[in-house]
Amino acid sequence: MQDDKEKRWLIAQEHEKKYWVKASNKIENTDRDLSYYKDRCEQIKNSFHGLGVNWAEVRILEIGSGPLGVVNYMDGDCYALDPLMDSYNNQKKLIANRRRSVTYLQGKGEMLPFEGSFFKIVFMINVLDHCMDPKKTVDETYRVLASNGYLYLVVNVRSKYGFFMRNIMEYFRLDKGHPHSYTKNIVDSEVRRNFETISSHLEDFKEKKRRISRNTVWREYLKYILGVNGYRYTLLLEKMG
Ligand SMILES: C[S@@+](CC[C@H](N)C(=O)[O-])C[C@H]1O[C@@H](n2cnc3c(N)ncnc32)[C@H](O)[C@@H]1O
Repeated sequence: MQDDKEKRWLIAQEHEKKYWVKASNKIENTDRDLSYYKDRCEQIKNSFHGLGVNWAEVRILEIGSGPLGVVNYMDGDCYALDPLMDSYNNQKKLIANRRRSVTYLQGKGEMLPFEGSFFKIVFMINVLDHCMDPKKTVDETYRVLASNGYLYLVVNVRSKYGFFMRNIMEYFRLDKGHPHSYTKNIVDSEVRRNFETISSHLEDFKEKKRRISRNTVWREYLKYILGVNGYRYTLLLEKMG
């Protein structure tokens, strides 16, 4: 029997699936339209600078990769896992640029099909607030990471006021795609405290507010008025011991 958590998650996943079908229909040139994965890959590699990672040798998992994931542009032994992978696999434009050597798997972060300590690096980018059970996903991530392995996490967080407003919206299911919402403090206490922090970066609230206040897309502007915009929180964490 489905519990409430699962039902809510399935609504979000249906929404996500539709988003990608729509995105796929709009794609004219896969290389250009999904190039942000490639750009992100370079940014991520830069943030590991000085840690002595040998990218050609390392084993990497991306949880909630979407159709391609940044691992598609990494060397090494790469795995990408997503609960919508079977659906992505059926959309030719979304997967046209896949690298053959990446292992793409259907699965959930809450139940990773790997033995403990299997990966040196795990990426989780814009996924935590989409999960059915984020805490379980973090526990699983911890389990599959080798000691002194790294978690690269990106999650949208809100101000305390934005978090409060977002919870009201959640009551009315106004943001179907995200079953969960975070403040920086919640991420710190639920995720960060289990690891050693190598680096952390929070998008500038004021600067982003200024930018969004000029946004002409009504949906973004409405989010600004309600104060529910998300700010990117990027963490590079190390599993100690
Ligand atoms: C906003 S997309 C992000 C995709 C990609 N990481 C990116 O940044 O483009 C969120 C992804 O998380 C996946 N997801 C949702 N619940 C998940 C779970 N429990 N475990 C792993 N991935 C999940 C969704 O299927 C979706 O592909």
